[in-house]
Amino acid sequence: MEKKFRKIGVLTSGGDAPGMNAAVRAIARAALARGVEVMGIYGGYSGLIHDNMIELKARTVSNIVSRGGTILYSDRCEEFKTEEGMQTAIGVCKKHEIDGIVAIGGDGTFRGATDLSVRGIPTIGVPGTIDNDITATENSIGFDTAMNTVVQMCDRLRDTCESHARCNVVEVMGRGAGDIAINTALALGAVAAVIPEVPFDEAACMEKIRRLRADGKRSFLVIVSEGVEHFSEAFAKRVQAETGVETKFARLAHVVRGGDPTLGDRILAAKMGVYAVERLLAGESNLVICQQDNRIVAVDILYSQILDRKYKGTLKEGMLEKCTAEQIAQMDCAIEEKKKDFARLYAMVNDLAR
Ligand code: F6P
Repeated sequence: MEKKFRKIGVLTSGGDAPGMNAAVRAIARAALARGVEVMGIYGGYSGLIHDNMIELKARTVSNIVSRGGTILYSDRCEEFKTEEGMQTAIGVCKKHEIDGIVAIGGDGTFRGATDLSVRGIPTIGVPGTIDNDITATENSIGFDTAMNTVVQMCDRLRDTCESHARCNVVEVMGRGAGDIAINTALALGAVAAVIPEVPFDEAACMEKIRRLRADGKRSFLVIVSEGVEHFSEAFAKRVQAETGVETKFARLAHVVRGGDPTLGDRILAAKMGVYAVERLLAGESNLVICQQDNRIVAVDILYSQILDRKYKGTLKEGMLEKCTAEQIAQMDCAIEEKKKDFARLYAMVNDLAR
């Protein structure tokens, strides 16, 4: 272990996610076990700018492993995007002699982590977002819990749909990513899923609902990702008009982000949190902790960000020039796999709805 690490900071930033507390606990305890002090920074990067933090002792993080939300609170901090904000944050780190930071959050959080790293505060990112939209990792903290919440809510909707012979169109969170929607549609036996990744055949969906109703099927669920914008509510009206099946609409919104973390998210948070501390104390920086082929690994943050942009089609000019030909080939492969996965899941949802 490098001697220079005497104190690290931990923060949670962006949309909160179940399991963030379990990650904070793992990070704090792993650091303390290695003789390193830990500061818990409140409200993400804004806590760093406004010097709002407390020392985390082993007892401070007792019994938070099972709690939803984040005891460190969270924020999307506009001020941190300015050079002045960043310099203030660096000054606060220096004042408290913080040698490095673990930042738990999504892509916005990782941009902040890079900003700190390049300005001399080694920072490592841990993916904590229900959206599962960090392409470099198979799984992000909060995703499993969010899916379980959607399934619990929709099982209830199914009960009442079955009693009343109705359809329910349910919009779920996920920002631009259909991961929550497609996986829960499969788990719920939904008649259809509408996601940004695969073109939706609305006419075929209507035809299927009509046919299944004629065959005696009473209840229908359609899961729509919020990434398909301005669609779900109007679609519910069209289903009723075109199929004759009474159709209700529900937007689960932030319900999906709350609640106690599942076993899967607690374990992932522990593994990722400990690994982040190990890498940070080994003198590494500018990494994001990922799960790949079910193993916990560290990926260069820049690589992860470029991969995300390449996948989402939002690359800026010159970005790819920072990558080797081998890295670009690796990215193409990962993107191809992800697209195939979505296509497979989408086909599966449709095939199984009979
Ligand atoms: O990124 C997590 C997320 O919950 C998205 O699924 C959603 O689009 C967004 O955050 C909502 O953000 P806010 O809590 O700021 O309304």
